[in-house]
Amino acid sequence: MVLDHAPVVSANTRTSINQRAGRAKRGLQALFAPGAVAVVGASRDPTKLGSLILRNIRRSGFPGPVYPINPRARQIQGLPAYPRVTAVPGPVDLAVVVVPRDAVLPVIEDCAARGTLAAIIITAGFRESGPVGAAAEEALVQVARAAGMRILGPNCLGVIDTLTPLNASFAARMPMPNGIALVSQSGALGTAILDWSAARQLGFSKFVSLGNEADITESDLLDLWETDESVRVAAAYLEAIPDGGHFRTAACRFNRRRPLVVLKAGRTEAGARAATSHTGALAGSDAAYAAAFHQTGTLRVDTLEALFDAALAFSTQPLPEGRGLTIVTNAGGPAVVATDAASAEGLTLAPPGERTRQRLRSILPSSASITNPIDILGDADARRYRQVLEVVQADPATGAILTILTPQLKTEVEETAGVIAAARAEESRPIVASFMGGPGVRSGVDLLARSGIPNYPFPERAVGALAALARYADWRRRPPGEVRRFTVDRERVAAVLMEARRQGWSTLDAYHTAAVVAAYGIPVPRGDLARDAEEAARLASAIGFPVVLKVVSPDIIHKSEVGGVRTGLGTAEDVRRAFTEIKAAVSRKVPTARIEGIAVWAMAPPGIETIVGLALDPTFGHLLLFGLGGIHVEILRDVTYRLVPVTDLDAEEMTREIRAAPVLAGTRGQPPADRAAITAVIERVSQLAVDFPVIRELDLNPLIVYPEHHGAVAVDARLTLSV
Ligand code: COA
Repeated sequence: MVLDHAPVVSANTRTSINQRAGRAKRGLQALFAPGAVAVVGASRDPTKLGSLILRNIRRSGFPGPVYPINPRARQIQGLPAYPRVTAVPGPVDLAVVVVPRDAVLPVIEDCAARGTLAAIIITAGFRESGPVGAAAEEALVQVARAAGMRILGPNCLGVIDTLTPLNASFAARMPMPNGIALVSQSGALGTAILDWSAARQLGFSKFVSLGNEADITESDLLDLWETDESVRVAAAYLEAIPDGGHFRTAACRFNRRRPLVVLKAGRTEAGARAATSHTGALAGSDAAYAAAFHQTGTLRVDTLEALFDAALAFSTQPLPEGRGLTIVTNAGGPAVVATDAASAEGLTLAPPGERTRQRLRSILPSSASITNPIDILGDADARRYRQVLEVVQADPATGAILTILTPQLKTEVEETAGVIAAARAEESRPIVASFMGGPGVRSGVDLLARSGIPNYPFPERAVGALAALARYADWRRRPPGEVRRFTVDRERVAAVLMEARRQGWSTLDAYHTAAVVAAYGIPVPRGDLARDAEEAARLASAIGFPVVLKVVSPDIIHKSEVGGVRTGLGTAEDVRRAFTEIKAAVSRKVPTARIEGIAVWAMAPPGIETIVGLALDPTFGHLLLFGLGGIHVEILRDVTYRLVPVTDLDAEEMTREIRAAPVLAGTRGQPPADRAAITAVIERVSQLAVDFPVIRELDLNPLIVYPEHHGAVAVDARLTLSV
């Protein structure tokens, strides 16, 4: 495909772009598996950070050379020290920088001169501390970019790779190796997690503290890890995503191969930006994040606990085929809790097949419950668990398996853990456990951890983790959909927007907005602009009665409130009178308003009132909204969002996921609404936003939807431009 404005790139330039891209990638790789590392600011004082990091690198068993850099020392921790990176005799792929802020820039210049691929800047006092720090950070980035060097941080905790192995961080503990790659925008939270995880035998393949993200972001890491076999799942704690576009591509590609689970803090942030439309007022920034996660297949969780519950399941278990769940338990109460949780999460507890039930009957005491959950009673020993699991596993109707155990008199905790571990060896479905209790189940919990079986202390958490597997598996199975392009009158829109610019309008009234959306194939009522009462009457006769009159003014947002709207006008005389009354009312209430005229519209018959709108998010660009419309939209908030561009599947899904979806599907004798017409409007609005990024907000409210095959019509619309 040839882009309209594709730059003409010479072969030489292209080679150098490729070389730079290759080097940028090598820089990222060098963070985790460098050939050699320098610690700049490795202190003689063993209690200082530089000294601790040097010790961590050496203790982690890093196989390559490690060079302490300190102009005031000849030896640090028994290693020869060098005054500068440029004085090191061999190559230095990675520099860990732990010098005071004002000494960092010359160090980065030295690294650039030495051909260092990446630097981890631990030092704080940059952008997070104010404008002086921000300028200092910018200077670092410029030096690094010019040299093709990557920077992690500043103001970060460092990096751990358990495979290399390398602990280039000031976290005291090197985690156990496992398939989880952990990324954190909060350093302090990172250390807490590493410490907490050690107690739970939770391992990591990588840990990255992102700090200020002057250069390297979570999206860069997703790009890198997309093909990294040591990463089975990425878990991220994020507060903000610096580059929404990069995140969308990176996360989408990553999730096609392995899952990304995110805890995004700050969900409650009020949509503080000034918004003049319903869509803008409704779409707080969390709506954009939620849409970005949804559309990229990223799993969002609300708590740290859920983040690791899911990460643990992903790092050890296969993906399920469907949403089935089979529960084997020695206690009734926890099974009820698990069943409730399953229903809330959309997992189904299918009853076992007839043959399975017969076999269970022959194994279990008569008071046992052989439906699902299968309650094998409080006196179940390890042998009973084994027999039941064997039967359950032989049944193709069995879904993911959750084994619940509470410590009772005859419970054989460790042996039962062994039974589950053995069952897992034979199994292609997920198997998790919930051994509930404290010291009474400890030995079993340890054995499960060693056997790669996630254990959750409460059954609802186990169900939550299994639901995460199922949701992700659903997304992987779902076809990606298609962003359709419609034939539209782009020139017409460009002309209207140009005229708006010329007139200095930042908001387009319903009349001009209708011209824009109609050019993109979105149905609007027949209508035209009248300058006087006679012209209005003439237009109304041509359009056909009844008609609606609406004042057209760039200065009036809420037309009804100033008496600028009259509906249901049945005769030419009604129209003439309404014209004069509207003019008088508006001139009285808003004397300064420029009135272009009064639009005469055909009156659309009643139908289901919906809204389709656009708002501009600072991180992710255009956010498209669909929901139940009309005057109560902001109160009811029955809306759903997608980022632009939306695919045909996204648009279709939007019409099914609002709470009022049953209304559209047709209830109580009402015919189903024309959902195909809604999806077409959604897709066309998406195309409009892609083609004209200058559109800041758009409301089609109401978009009246008629029964199937009878279409939809945008009877009122307003558009705001970015200034
Ligand atoms: N090259 C090499 N070494 C240098 C140097 C340079 N240009 N300039 C100074 N040094 C040496 C110092 O001589 C000192 O070694 P010494 O103790 O043997 O004399 C060592 O580097 C450290 O310098 P010092 O001045 O003692 O700094 P410090 O250790 O007190 O503080 C930081 C340095 C980076 C730890 C501190 O500035 C900082 O940013 N702390 C916050 C870190 C943080 O919390 N990060 C975010 C985590 S989420």
